[in-house]
Amino acid sequence: MRKTLIAGNWKMHGNVASIESLVNGIKSQLDSSWQSDILVCPPSIYVDRTVQLIKGSSIKVGGQNLSQQEQGAFTGEISGDMLADLGAEYVLVGHSERRSLYHESNELVAEKFAKALEKGLTPVLCVGETLEQRENDTTMDVVKGQIDAVIDFYQDKTAGLEKLGQGVIAYEPVWAIGTGVTASPEQAQEVHAAIRHYLAEMNTGVAEEIQILYGGSMKAANAEELLAQNDIDGGLIGGASLKADEFIAICKIAG
Ligand code: G3P
Repeated sequence: MRKTLIAGNWKMHGNVASIESLVNGIKSQLDSSWQSDILVCPPSIYVDRTVQLIKGSSIKVGGQNLSQQEQGAFTGEISGDMLADLGAEYVLVGHSERRSLYHESNELVAEKFAKALEKGLTPVLCVGETLEQRENDTTMDVVKGQIDAVIDFYQDKTAGLEKLGQGVIAYEPVWAIGTGVTASPEQAQEVHAAIRHYLAEMNTGVAEEIQILYGGSMKAANAEELLAQNDIDGGLIGGASLKADEFIAICKIAG
């Protein structure tokens, strides 16, 4: 049975005061009866402070990105070791903003996925198509390519699938990110089911077990319908995760 994961991607937002207020606002409304995992992903510079703030709660902390390199002369980069050292448990890899704004290729994202696992972090592999790709009916070609890059990074498909299964997939249609235009539950479920079917053709265990989150304008108002879908195992939430009450409302729906 897959556990639900509700993750907040704070992107490049926040300061010491706002992060303290947000985390305390979330902590104060947590319900110990909820079964879902709750994850927050602050900007790297605030990971340490966020880890300190969530202490005593069940909230987990993740990074938004990591270098594929070991520590070294890579000015401005953050290593997987550093995130793990600070107490992060997850890290996003291949978010569409990394792919579009910072030109991260499928192959680079796969390297980051592997490095995250190597450092004991759970990678959240972000995949998804642009509006043009959807309109050209190439959604699954794009998503399969993004997933295949991770599988192909390893010496053989069996190992690659096993490693992929140690991570999480987040399907984020680019056209729904930050736009307020959410994929309909049917649209999201269709792609989630297609991803799971694709994986099942190669490894039924991984297909059944891997969490596939939905991201793209998930809000309290649409979370119930989205989370009710068979193949949606949670959410990767941007804007709505910056407001404690809204984020908690989604966590409450997830239960
Ligand atoms: O990583 C989550 C993010 O891309 C979704 O953003 O603001 O559409 O919830 P938003």
